[in-house]
Amino acid sequence: MIKIALFGCNGKMGQVISNLLANDEDAKISFGFDINTEKKNSYPVYDNIEKIKEDADVVIDFSHPALLDSIIEYCKKTKTGAVIATTGLLDEQIKEIDDLSKEVAIFRSANMSLGINLLISLVKKASQLLGDKFDIEIIEKHHNQKIDAPSGTALMIADAISDTLHNDTEYVYDRHSVRKKRAKNEIGLHAVRGGTIVGEHDVIFAGNDEIIEINHKAMSKEIFAVGSIKAAKYIAGKKCGMYSMANMIED
Ligand SMILES: NC(=O)c1ccc[n+]([C@@H]2O[C@H](COP(=O)([O-])OP(=O)(O)OC[C@H]3O[C@@H](n4cnc5c(N)ncnc54)[C@H](O)[C@@H]3O)[C@@H](O)[C@H]2O)c1
Repeated sequence: MIKIALFGCNGKMGQVISNLLANDEDAKISFGFDINTEKKNSYPVYDNIEKIKEDADVVIDFSHPALLDSIIEYCKKTKTGAVIATTGLLDEQIKEIDDLSKEVAIFRSANMSLGINLLISLVKKASQLLGDKFDIEIIEKHHNQKIDAPSGTALMIADAISDTLHNDTEYVYDRHSVRKKRAKNEIGLHAVRGGTIVGEHDVIFAGNDEIIEINHKAMSKEIFAVGSIKAAKYIAGKKCGMYSMANMIED
């Protein structure tokens, strides 16, 4: 039985994971961590890493970038690997996570759904074939409570395209402030916020007289929770290093 430390346990994603793990035969939550300790859970919840009594095999983090320092401190101190799902991290924080992967196993993805990861491999293939002729734009849609924009997933898709096109790309977030025609090497990223949209990503390849669209719609938050639990089981007991959805799918 894998023991999980759930950071951000009292948030929306934390509660979905708690419900799924309540019926899981191979993994259970050994403790939770959250700034909000008021919610009742079947496991102890801490708001200070010094007070943690239980041990864990792997951390799952769906919280806030402000908690990252504590998570890194916990992982280093206890030599525990981590699945980092929190988005909106700064470049310096991503670098700190990369450094942590030299000491423990890390799985970081801005989108834990298997479907989005399939979309990314299809988009890479399409970019290889169409990248020099078609204009590429990404539209992401999320609920009205989301703070960061564009979504971590939209950036993940743009980075995959950029890698495929050998980084000869420029991300454009705002066409309002600049009055000029679209350059060939641009990737436009557009954010829509409204209602309770769980998460939608459309990648548009617009050519002369034809358009190809590849899209993914998340219908519930459970897909991310399922993916993160799979990832936690995958890295538990693995040696230090950076693991990805692609590694997990291939193994
Ligand atoms: N990678 C993915 O697939 C994926 C999917 C969904 C959400 N997310 C990301 O996961 C994160 C959480 O999403 P959510 O919808 O559950 O948000 P949420 O706001 O409902 O939950 C966040 C939880 O973290 C806690 N928290 C915030 N700051 C804290 C701090 N400094 N110390 C301790 N606890 C703190 C909050 O009290 C809350 O319980 C976000 O960054 C979101 O973008 C990632």
